[in-house]
Amino acid sequence: MKIAIACDHGGYPLKRPLLELMEGLGHEVLDLGAHEMDAQDDYPDFARYVGQAIQHGQAERGVLLCGSGVGASIAANKQDGVRAAVCHDTYSAGQGVEHDNMNVLCLGARIVGEAVAVELVTAFVNAKFTAEERHARRLEKVNAIEAAH
Ligand code: RB5
Repeated sequence: MKIAIACDHGGYPLKRPLLELMEGLGHEVLDLGAHEMDAQDDYPDFARYVGQAIQHGQAERGVLLCGSGVGASIAANKQDGVRAAVCHDTYSAGQGVEHDNMNVLCLGARIVGEAVAVELVTAFVNAKFTAEERHARRLEKVNAIEAAH
């Protein structure tokens, strides 16, 4: 699977290990920055890069890192076709895909360390949307909300 990853300065410490994790799991990873630590950079820019990669079909999913995961998820969800959430537990990281078709996992590098982040990303990339009728129905309703504005 093609997966985009990006971070601001708050998420920077986790980007390299998570990129290497996903490559090790056999995925093609698109590194959308930040390419160096810059305390002045802004998470919405990176959320936009990941959202655009998904919208243009360059990536099926994304991993977005900031300090808390919150800003990244807020910015990511402003973009059509992006279903992002902060998940700092493995149940949500997997079930968010299985039930909600979450396509962007947001993590806070000030909240979780590398070992937990590895488990979260592993749960995220290994999960698949079940497309069961009730989940498909709910996703259609989410899409209708998006289409209404
Ligand atoms: C950056 O200092 C920090 O505010 C940002 O990474 C993120 O935590 C926002 O939600």
